[in-house]
Amino acid sequence: MYRNHIKLTSGQGWDPVETLSSHESPDFNEARFEPKGFTEGAAAVLSSILQNSRYECIVRLPQAGGNRWYSEPVRLAKFFTGGVNCWKQSPWQGLYRTLLEREQGPLPTILFDLFFLHRNVTLDRIDTIINTGSLRILEDAGILSVSNGAVRSRVRCYPVGNRYFLCDTSRDQPDFVYIGWDSHLMVDIAAKYCRGRHFSRSLDLCTGSGVQGLSLAPQSDESFYVDINPRALAMVEANARLNKLTTVHAVHSDLFSNIPGCFDCITANTPYVPHPVIGAQLPIGGGDIGIEFTIRLLRELPDRLAEDGISVIYTSDPIVHGKRQLIARVTRELGHLPLRVVLIPLFTNSYPMTRPMQEHYDSLGLSGYDDCILIIERGKKYEVEHHQHDRVHYYRTKVDAWLDWRRRANPATRDRPQS
Ligand SMILES: C[S@@+](CC[C@H](N)C(=O)[O-])C[C@H]1O[C@@H](n2cnc3c(N)ncnc32)[C@H](O)[C@@H]1O
Repeated sequence: MYRNHIKLTSGQGWDPVETLSSHESPDFNEARFEPKGFTEGAAAVLSSILQNSRYECIVRLPQAGGNRWYSEPVRLAKFFTGGVNCWKQSPWQGLYRTLLEREQGPLPTILFDLFFLHRNVTLDRIDTIINTGSLRILEDAGILSVSNGAVRSRVRCYPVGNRYFLCDTSRDQPDFVYIGWDSHLMVDIAAKYCRGRHFSRSLDLCTGSGVQGLSLAPQSDESFYVDINPRALAMVEANARLNKLTTVHAVHSDLFSNIPGCFDCITANTPYVPHPVIGAQLPIGGGDIGIEFTIRLLRELPDRLAEDGISVIYTSDPIVHGKRQLIARVTRELGHLPLRVVLIPLFTNSYPMTRPMQEHYDSLGLSGYDDCILIIERGKKYEVEHHQHDRVHYYRTKVDAWLDWRRRANPATRDRPQS
């Protein structure tokens, strides 16, 4: 009944989250969630439900599936230390659920089914968390749909720290609003590099749900949120209401084109997946080898970064004919300027699984890419530093990618490419 999306990467590729086809649940209102209809009253109700149920702990739960038993010790360690597992799959998911329920009670796992896995949950189970009045308010706001004794969410809700972010449940529409593992990683890394700073004007480019900008908003006098997708801007405003943040300016713009001035913090989780047409797949397609969009952004960045400003950019580092491309291309664009560039590799992606993507990769000599973050600040001269984030995770994903590559190279074990 449930179909699993293919897992291509743990960043902007497909994620393995279960989705239920609409024809399998004909009685639910399957109309899309409209962020503009999410009122302050509904935001207050949802926020108190999530807080009272300690929803934030669901990031520790992996999803069911997968067979990478060798990853399990790391996953278990992450579970016990409060790390993020929910974007990954485990063959022993039941064990994690039991452990979490023993520690936190049943409420977080019920909401994990509803708001993260997008499953139908019976009214009996929901009854312990959401009373009839609140259910009606969330139904009117387009968050929940109730039918035949079951409840279903029309939106995904994802916790980051002590905040909650709404985004779309499926990637079926081209203007879907994205949140992925990369979004969360970037919040954590931006927090680390921006710790102790205060900004007068901050800008979150490629904002999507606003997850990075809204997380940094308390450090900013004024924050701006830019996206080319109008639905994303409405989602930023809905998320600002959910998190009771007020000084939020959501601006429709193609990168910097419609937003004047300089900023002392510029964040951007760019579209960075290799794709033949930039913007063809709006939230994630970054150009032929994945970094063309980022390079366009970097060309304008020095003129928009305030004197002691900092920029945090999530992108990819493609490998073409065996050579990493990112730093060479960044240096070609910015090498004449006094800038300090820090490269933080995060994880390695596997080779793509669809036939058109495979053909695209082969035509360019592209063998894969790392997800990575660039920190860019002004300096005395141009220099590049390399920092590490989570060395164990980075090398584990390298092993995964190598095993995938071997499986694909072997005709006996190769998956049939998807058309
Ligand atoms: C990978 S998503 C990141 C969303 C969010 N920041 C996050 O981390 O979850 C990339 C975002 O860039 C936006 N985008 C794509 N092209 C753009 C452009 N030319 N100007 C501004 N935003 C753009 C997409 O609509 C999408 O919301």
